[in-house]
Amino acid sequence: MSNPRHDTPHSSGPSLWPIGFAIGVACLLLGLVLSWMIAVLGAVLAIAFGLLWARDVTRDVRGDVPEIAPETRVVADELAPGAVPQHKPLPAYPRSKFLEASLIGLTGAMGAVLTLPVLGFMVLPSFTNIDEDEVDLGPLDNFPEGEYVIATYLKDPAQGEVTRRTAFVRNNGQSEAGDPSFTILYSRCVHLGCPVQPNGPIDEERRIELKNAALLPVLAQSFGCPCHGGLYDAEGNRTAGPPVRSLDRYTFSIRNGRLILGELFAVGSVSGTGANARISRYPWSTPGVHVDGVEAWLYPIVPSQVTG
Ligand code: FES
Repeated sequence: MSNPRHDTPHSSGPSLWPIGFAIGVACLLLGLVLSWMIAVLGAVLAIAFGLLWARDVTRDVRGDVPEIAPETRVVADELAPGAVPQHKPLPAYPRSKFLEASLIGLTGAMGAVLTLPVLGFMVLPSFTNIDEDEVDLGPLDNFPEGEYVIATYLKDPAQGEVTRRTAFVRNNGQSEAGDPSFTILYSRCVHLGCPVQPNGPIDEERRIELKNAALLPVLAQSFGCPCHGGLYDAEGNRTAGPPVRSLDRYTFSIRNGRLILGELFAVGSVSGTGANARISRYPWSTPGVHVDGVEAWLYPIVPSQVTG
């Protein structure tokens, strides 16, 4: 019978999930450059909308799984003379569904190829960087107020001299809050990693030997790098040459009246001096890497490297 009103079933309208998926991927890639929080949000959006999209596309396939009847054959003897055997048509899926599913698979594979290596570089350093072990630099009396002391120590005594590191330690007296204040600079140049030297005479006669460290007072108000002429002031700020940030610093703690070196951190710049210094502090990074300003955007991924 003909249908005068031409009523035909409507197929569902175009899905909006792909747009959400694309926004999620865009946030993820943007987050890799700007902030890990945006990256996580993007990943969550991409996964959520991707799943919804995949569910949409495969609805027909999942909806009515045809029951497969056991194969039967019409035995020739059972057919009436001259009758043609009848075959049930097999269920068919539209080509558009196949193409859509293929597109999703392909997009997912391409996304994985692009993002997994980047994610790997971001996450792996957390597992491969070795934490700085605490180093005991002895009683606070070893550090006269306002004077730099060169502290060389064994980062890993079991490995011997090859692990010897150098820090420049200055006792700043007390902070406004009444806490002991120390400036502790790491000697590694933040241009390419050469050993920075204090610009001033060393007082060998006041040398102090500790179990795994040695302390040498020095009259220095600046530091220089012999490799490419990098210069730093007494706070570790770059004043000349190619270094890209201020000298790295150590955290510290005081235990039973002794100075304990903590972990390294990177410094963008320092304003003020001594106990009143305001330090732009960042997670430790390799030499040559900007940690603040526009240039830091160009270095979103820091290669894994053992500190020191
Ligand atoms: S490594 Fe220090 S200035 Fe180049």
